[in-house]
Amino acid sequence: MDAFDLFRKLGAGAKFDFKRFGRDADRFKGVRSEQKDGSGLLSGIDFFGTGLNHVQPVKWTEEEAEKNEESEDGATGKRKRQDEAKTVKKTKKKKEDALSDTEVACGGQQGEGILWTSSADRKSKGLQKMGRDKDKTSMKRLKQLHQEKVNRVRALHRINVHGCDVPDPVSTFSELQSEYGLNPRVLQNLSSAGLTTPTPIQMQAIPLMMHGRELLACAPTGSGKTLAFCLPLLTHLKQPANLGFRALIISPTRELASQTHRELVRLSEGVGFRVHILDKASIAAKKYGPNSNKKYDILVSTPNRLVFLLKQDPPALNLSSVEWLVVDESDKLFEDGRGGFRDQLAAVFQACSGPRVRRALYSATCVPDVEQWCRLNLDNLVSVNIGHRNAAVETVKQELLFVGTENGKLLAMRDIIKKGFLPPMLVFVQSIERARELFHELVYEGINVDVIHADRTQQQRDNVISSFRSGDIWVLICTALLARGIDFKGVNLVLNYDFPTGALEYIHRIGRTGRAGHTGRAVTFFTEDDKPLLRSIANVIKQAGCPVPDFMLGFKKIHSKVKRQLQKKPPKRSTISTTPHFLLKKGGGGAAGKGEKRIKSADGPNVEKNKGVDGQKKGKKKKADGQMKGKKKRADGQMKGKKKAENLQTTRKDATVQGTRIKKKERPNKQAA
Ligand SMILES: Nc1ncnc2c1ncn2[C@@H]1O[C@H](COP(=O)(O)OP(=O)(O)OP(=O)(O)O)[C@@H](O)[C@H]1O
Ligand SMILES: [Mg+2]
Repeated sequence: MDAFDLFRKLGAGAKFDFKRFGRDADRFKGVRSEQKDGSGLLSGIDFFGTGLNHVQPVKWTEEEAEKNEESEDGATGKRKRQDEAKTVKKTKKKKEDALSDTEVACGGQQGEGILWTSSADRKSKGLQKMGRDKDKTSMKRLKQLHQEKVNRVRALHRINVHGCDVPDPVSTFSELQSEYGLNPRVLQNLSSAGLTTPTPIQMQAIPLMMHGRELLACAPTGSGKTLAFCLPLLTHLKQPANLGFRALIISPTRELASQTHRELVRLSEGVGFRVHILDKASIAAKKYGPNSNKKYDILVSTPNRLVFLLKQDPPALNLSSVEWLVVDESDKLFEDGRGGFRDQLAAVFQACSGPRVRRALYSATCVPDVEQWCRLNLDNLVSVNIGHRNAAVETVKQELLFVGTENGKLLAMRDIIKKGFLPPMLVFVQSIERARELFHELVYEGINVDVIHADRTQQQRDNVISSFRSGDIWVLICTALLARGIDFKGVNLVLNYDFPTGALEYIHRIGRTGRAGHTGRAVTFFTEDDKPLLRSIANVIKQAGCPVPDFMLGFKKIHSKVKRQLQKKPPKRSTISTTPHFLLKKGGGGAAGKGEKRIKSADGPNVEKNKGVDGQKKGKKKKADGQMKGKKKRADGQMKGKKKAENLQTTRKDATVQGTRIKKKERPNKQAA
């Protein structure tokens, strides 16, 4: 027994602290070599070979040992910790290898407490391990290459995703059939509608919804969000079932709801889904009430109508079978306060009480409020953004035009018309009142103009929309009612006659043109009154790559509180009229007020009355020469007093009646705008 053996015997059962005595370990060459050939367990084994294997083997790798050795070598405790932190990831991976090393060691022969393996064994096991390692490496490499490819696709289409386990984007619609079981008939409907390649939002949002993931999606106006949520719904529901509504889509306006309804009907043609839109509440109660046959699948609605039915006793609608709840224009529907939908939306969320309900929120703009709500309430949320958030679509050529005063706006608009423009054109104003006023001014221009706002009956609104779609109307004056979601094919010009109430509204308004890759133009009038919001709109324009004067970007930033106030209460503007004020005032007993009142009511419930009085009692003569007289009087407006002002008003009323072709008394419906 030499000194070395004696030392080994004496040290039997002792645990060698390799961490502290790493250097000393070097002196035990045999052991080191064992360790180096990859089969050894250095720690936790009966290091001194007494044959007593008391200590549980610890899965340690050579690298770990070396690491410890290094840290022992000259580093301070602090550096050691840093090193440990740096290599913690490495260690995790290597632990797996260590596990296989351990297995190799355990499978070997036992001799004097040390787990030896024969060299042949070691060699073959080593080869196996190498093979496995190779497989692993090639798998890893493949995964890496695949991820790089996916990242490239996302970068190319400016798809930004946040969330875990996000499925890969698809690049064709047929992939949806092979991978997710999209109904072949739906695929056929897509191609017959001329839709061949998915847009970026469709590429990413459709697979996510197909996987049943809850999501918040933000993509530019006209980028195909409707299809992005309609296709997964149709796939998810598979086929019609008499279980009541299984999918619900909420839209802020009736116009948008019926557009989405139309799109769904078109897509599901031949599949048999029963897609409904809420009409009259009384009919709906019968159709969908507790005693209904539940033969319906998808519902599209505005929140107000839905909540009205839900609040009946007993509820006239049961949403407990809903599996997908889609909120379109989500930031609009999350607005609270007067005119907001937040409370109604909360009631709808509550009513969709089924255990399998998934939610998806879509919009072209996103506000922190919505994002925060989603983070707190949605399950394993994924958020998808296409391009920059809250940015205007880049296919629209945007211009800002200083027009001095309100009258300047009318002149500038006439100038646009005079110079020639390519219809159709959408003209946005800030209120119903102003929509009427502008309409009354423009009916003289000899262009096909009409007006739409929430004070018109549903029938009138539907008629106007279909006339505009068919090209019968060239210029459509509207309020915020049409600012969101409405997809008119080929609108060439959006004119912001009144400055928008904020950057988000601007983005949606101008997004009515330049849709689905087409180009468009947007002109925004501004006066001194619009200065507070000029900076934020100018920034949006600049971000979209259109020129804006530098001085606008240098305006002082306004407080968010002021912004919110302006959003709710836009600046007061003087009446849209080319009749000089003093003329209207001279019109006796406050003729201006009187005139204004008459103009205001011309498109409202009093239209028929006015028509009766002016069109029949006062005779045809005034009607015939009304326009001429009106123009003449406007030209030499200073001269005449009361009588002329009255004639002018008469002319306007007649023109209004002819222009709007109003048949019925209008019923106020102030759902939106
Ligand atoms: N994959 C596609 N290929 C070509 N056109 C498409 C595709 N998907 C949708 N479209 C068309 O793009 C237009 C705009 O679509 P959609 O109304 O869904 O836009 P959106 O993103 O919802 O816009 P908004 O924010 O204004 O609501 C529609 O006319 C639609 O038919
Ligand atoms: Mg939309």
